Amino acid sequence: MERTFAIIKPDAFAAGHAGKILARIYQEGFKVVGLKKLYLSKVEAEGFYYVHRERPFFGELTDFMSSGPCVVMALEADNAIMKWRDLMGATDPAKAAEGTLRREFGTSIGENATHGSDAPETAAFELSYFFAGLELL
Ligand code: PPS
Repeated sequence: MERTFAIIKPDAFAAGHAGKILARIYQEGFKVVGLKKLYLSKVEAEGFYYVHRERPFFGELTDFMSSGPCVVMALEADNAIMKWRDLMGATDPAKAAEGTLRREFGTSIGENATHGSDAPETAAFELSYFFAGLELL
């Protein structure tokens, strides 16, 4: 079993899609090991997206992620990292395959409904950024 870190981003949460996204998560066979609603500050969003600090969209991305509440989750499944990325679809909703979450709920490359870790090391960092070990027992 593998764990990954996932976010229902502020656009999807504000649009009332959190319940539908969570239903898909269960339907696809993930175990939800941790879940909480958070309203990130700009500094917290900047810390989370630190690896992207040199990219031109860093300001826009961190403004967006601190623009409203989101839901952070620890998901468990066989091959959870790839399985969640497949369920999300491509970063740009316009390029995401039919049936993926970003295709259904995303509206632009910035406001793309969900986030997921891209590798085991990233998942370890991202899970520990938002969850204490005791919260994921
Ligand atoms: S990926 O999957 O990490 O390779 O995607 P990447 O293209 O590198 O994008 C990393 C995150 O930045 C967001 N992003 C943007 N935000 C605002 N404006 C623009 N133009 C933009 N381009 C990319 C993208 O949604 C990714 O967010 P996360 O939360 O990591 O999915």
